[in-house]
Amino acid sequence: MKQTKIGLFGFGNVGQGLYNILHETRGIKGEVEKIGIKNPEKKRSLLQKWFTTKPVDLIQNENVDIVVELINDENEAFSIVKESLENNKNVVTANKKMLAYRLKELIELQKKHQTSLLYEASVCGSIPIIRNLEEYYDNDLLHSISGIFSGSVNYILSKMFNEKSTFEIALQRAQELGFSEENPEDDINGTDSLHKLVILALHGFGLLVNPNDVFHFGISTLHKKDIKFAVEKSKKIKLVSRMFRTLDNKVIMYVMPSLVNQSNALYSVENEYNAVIIGASFSNQQILLGKGSGGNPTASAVLSDINALTYSYKYEYKKMNQNSDLSYSSDITLTIYLRFNSKSDLQHIKFEQIYEKYYSAGFNYIIGKIHLDELISSKDYLLENNLFIAEIN
Ligand SMILES: NC(=O)c1ccc[n+]([C@@H]2O[C@H](COP(=O)([O-])OP(=O)(O)OC[C@H]3O[C@@H](n4cnc5c(N)ncnc54)[C@H](OP(=O)(O)O)[C@@H]3O)[C@@H](O)[C@H]2O)c1
Repeated sequence: MKQTKIGLFGFGNVGQGLYNILHETRGIKGEVEKIGIKNPEKKRSLLQKWFTTKPVDLIQNENVDIVVELINDENEAFSIVKESLENNKNVVTANKKMLAYRLKELIELQKKHQTSLLYEASVCGSIPIIRNLEEYYDNDLLHSISGIFSGSVNYILSKMFNEKSTFEIALQRAQELGFSEENPEDDINGTDSLHKLVILALHGFGLLVNPNDVFHFGISTLHKKDIKFAVEKSKKIKLVSRMFRTLDNKVIMYVMPSLVNQSNALYSVENEYNAVIIGASFSNQQILLGKGSGGNPTASAVLSDINALTYSYKYEYKKMNQNSDLSYSSDITLTIYLRFNSKSDLQHIKFEQIYEKYYSAGFNYIIGKIHLDELISSKDYLLENNLFIAEIN
């Protein structure tokens, strides 16, 4: 059996996970030729001869069949992916931030150089959602894609709800376990979930959306008062990414904490697990559940892409042509819980309708209907003043 030679960039959580899977699993048709890293001084579990700090050693290496990019720097990752595609190498990446901002260029590069770029691991770790949207939901009319897209945030929320852990301890543990990146800001403020939503908008609805246009609010302002409120109402708080199609061919997208009750499928999704709920015309609702973070689960999706490249698999991006009448929109009114500090906060955030108001010493909240555009324009105020919001549905 001919072995596919892999030029691997990155030997962190996912890179090492991939290396281990390749070397511990029988019957796999791939082997690592060389590994690109950043810091030559770092102590490694392999001999020095395997490593290089020069990208050309992989990208222009004739022995390398496939480049696998698993580094934690989105600009450098784009250069590696671009140059590899230009050098007629097929590429696998897990870098959702790089993808979310560069999808258009990356589609053009693939076309121009007749190469293939696969990135199943970039969205929800081990869950095979991209290829499913490309292939399986090709003929069924999709209505919605939503779910828990951040393993590290879900892990933090699980520890806070189920073990009464503090935010700081839960985050530290998520980092130790390799669920959260060294700089966890993108996870905590919902940007990481947003990047994944943007990637799924392309494969689910054929839409190229600028991440900067989409509302996202994470858990950076979550307080134990919010957790107490949720527990008293027999609910949990989950960071939920949502995207759905309206009757007038708009696609609404946003990422926001959500107060979910026990009948919601996301209520029992815990720790580093992710869930994707797909709503479609004929199949109705389907749920995919699996580990969304961690070296080995993420590497398993990378391995699946490597395997797919051995039979010349490419994303066809068919829905970009099929759904040309669809466009992104934020024209929707949502029901939300807002925890605020003082009555003056409410002058900055305009509700269309108020269902419930509660004031007491130290804990004030309001539940009401608000337009998504109002949330977009008041986001900075919410964050600067440590206010917390969660959707109720
Ligand atoms: N961790 C997860 O659960 C998870 C899940 C889904 C997707 N991802 C994505 O997978 C990718 C890798 O994540 P990770 O958690 O494995 O990261 P990580 O543990 O922080 O490791 C990053 C690796 O990238 C290398 N690197 C950084 N800059 C480089 C450069 N310019 N040239 C060559 N190598 C460079 C580092 O080299 P040194 O070893 O020399 O420092 C390190 O080996 C990221 O895009 C991440 O978003 C991760």
